[in-house]
Formats: sequence, C-alpha cells, structure tokens
Amino acid sequence: APAPLVDGFGRTVSYLRLSVTDRCDLRCTYCMAEKMSFLPRREVLSLEELARLSELFIRHGVRKLRITGGEPLVRRDIMDLFRDLSRHLTSGALDELTLTTNGTLLARHAYDLAACGVRRVNVSLDTLDPARYRAVTRLGDIRMVLSGIEAALEAGLQVKLNAVASRGAFESEVDDLIRFAHARRMNLTLIEEMPLGETGLNRGESVLSLRDLQRDLSERWTLSPLQRSSGGPARYMRVAETGGRIGLISPMSCNFCALCNRVRVSCTGQLYTCLGDDSAVDLRAPLRHSDTAALDALRAALLVKPERHAFDMSRMADTAVPRHMSALGG
Ligand code: GTP
Ligand code: 5AD
Ligand code: SF4
Repeated sequence: APAPLVDGFGRTVSYLRLSVTDRCDLRCTYCMAEKMSFLPRREVLSLEELARLSELFIRHGVRKLRITGGEPLVRRDIMDLFRDLSRHLTSGALDELTLTTNGTLLARHAYDLAACGVRRVNVSLDTLDPARYRAVTRLGDIRMVLSGIEAALEAGLQVKLNAVASRGAFESEVDDLIRFAHARRMNLTLIEEMPLGETGLNRGESVLSLRDLQRDLSERWTLSPLQRSSGGPARYMRVAETGGRIGLISPMSCNFCALCNRVRVSCTGQLYTCLGDDSAVDLRAPLRHSDTAALDALRAALLVKPERHAFDMSRMADTAVPRHMSALGG
C-alpha cells in the first residue's frame, strides 16, 4: 500500500476536512462579516478536482472525510460529489463520509445523503429562539434548520448539534439546547469561539470560556466525563438527567493538538495543516499538473505542520487569524 501521510511530529493524517465552497446562505456573526465578497467561481476547484483530490488523500491513508464550506449544500450539484465519494465507502477505503452544515437546505438533501452512505451530520444551531437565531446568523430562518434536522433524523442520519458558546443569552438557553438535543437522541457539542475573521473585533466580552460554562452547567446537571475518543478535539460528558452526551470543544482553554490527525483543504485547493495557523500550501496548481505533483506538495507541507495552534485567551488580538472561519468551515 502507498505510504501513509505523516507529519513532522510523527502524527499520521487520517482525517481530511474538505471545503467545497466559501459561500453560505447565512452570515453568522462569529464567522463572517456582514458584507462578504466571495471568490470568483474560476478560483474554486471543480467537482471533478475535488473528487480527485479526495481520492489522492484516501489512497494515502485518509479514512475519514468531512465535507465543509462555507455551507456545503449551497454548492450546485454537490450531491454529484457525494455520489462519487460514496464508492470509497463501498470499497472499504473510507470509514466515514460526513458533512458539517448549517442545516437550512438539509430537508432537501437528507435522504440522498443517507443513500450515499453518510451516517452522521453535524448541524450548527446556537439557539432555539427564532429572534436570537436571526440575530446570530443575520439572515437565517430557524424553521428551515428545524425541518432540516427533522428530515435528517427521519432519513436515519445521526445528528450532532454544534453550538458556539457566548456570554449572555446563550448561558440561559443552553439548558433548552441540551433538552432539545437529547430528547431526539442527538449529541450536542459546545464550541468555544475562536478569534478568526474579524480580527479588529473585541471578542473579550462575548467569548465564554467553556470552563466557566461547565462549572455553571454542573450546578444544574449531573455531568460525568467519558473516555476521550481518538484524535477529536471534543471532551465528552454524560448527562445523567437526559442520558445524552455533550461535547466540549475548548481550543482556547484546553489544548488537544498532540493527538491532531487532520488537515484541511479550502475550496481553492489550499492545504491548511492547522486551523490556528494562516499559512497554506497550494495543491491546486500541482493537482492540475499531476497526482504525483500534488502528493509531493502535500508531503512537503506536512513536514512543517505546526505542533499546535497558537490561540491564546489572554492574547486574543495577537493570536487572531485574519482568515474567516467560513473559508475553511472550522
Ligand atoms: P467530528 O469530526 O465528528 O469529531 O466532528 P468535529 O466536531 O471535529 O467537526 P465539526 O465540523 O462539527 O467541528 C466543530 C468545530 O470544532 C469546528 O468548527 C471547530 O470550531 C472545532 N474544531 C474541529 N477541529 C478542530 C481543530 O483541529 N482545531 C481547533 N482549534 N478546532 C477544531
Ligand atoms: N469559533 C468557533 N467556532 C466557529 N464556528 C464558526 N465560526 C467559529 C468561531 N469563530 C463554527 C460554526 C460551525 C462550525 C463549522 O464552526 O458554528 O458549527
Ligand atoms: Fe455559514 Fe456556518 Fe459560517 Fe454560519 S458558521 S456563516 S452557517 S459557514
């Protein structure tokens, strides 16, 4: 078998997060600016190129592929890519094909996703309150996400909800999110806001440390830590009252980089070896030349993958990364 992809610290890359578009139908405040300009279409990899690049990674040991955006489901004909990728599930080369979505278009695609072998989807939902949802997403109608979630569950998909934690209203709404998720057998992951995109923003006031949130939650819920699963950034807790699980992703207050098994590729074919680092290596030009050229570029980039991200709660402004979160989908 071809040699696996190993970085300079001996970590094997088995997980690719592939962004298929920088566009989105929402403008979440922590992710995008109110007025975004999007990439011209010619910059973006074609669906064929995305499939080829995925295949290259899979041939070299990637076992898990997550499609992200922007919002992946706004990309025209995106289901053609899922259908193409599903053959790697059938052949056993890939363990998991999945996506992270805002859910607004999920009702339309849930059944087809399941038919392509997708078993789990991650849906972003920070609040159950329609007005707050609109405020956070600037453009969203919560009914679309809720029907998307319902369709996904009906199609037999496991749904994980992602909620970005913030100070204020979120703190009183998080109990409702827990009850909502667990009543439907969904996991809920709470994410600490990371300083990406609007670097000028003073986030000190909005960022809620999950350490504080966890302390607060444990006054009302009985939380017991679960065994850490391999490589992922989330720490999981069982909630005795609901029988469900919550995950905590705390890049700002707790570091998980030692086990990092992932890389990211943007929709223009830029390889990012760390979410918290803005340097990228172009795979598009070499890919347009040959698979071998792309593989060489990829291996060279892995040798300089940083050991860990540099986000620092106490130095938010200095450690911020100017790229918008939507460019890579987290
Ligand atoms: P699984 O792969 O199923 O564990 O899901 P996930 O939680 O990794 O994927 P998802 O797309 O739901 O990611 C949720 C959020 O976790 C991302 O948007 C990021 O905010 C954060 N996250 C995921 N991976 C990393 C990482 O490698 N570093 C940092 N700093 N944050 C990450
Ligand atoms: N910090 C942390 N998470 C973020 N997301 C978007 N922007 C940020 C940020 N600045 C989350 C979204 C979505 C996931 C892909 O990334 O809520 O769930
Ligand atoms: Fe779109 Fe997701 Fe960014 Fe919100 S967080 S603007 S849904 S890409």
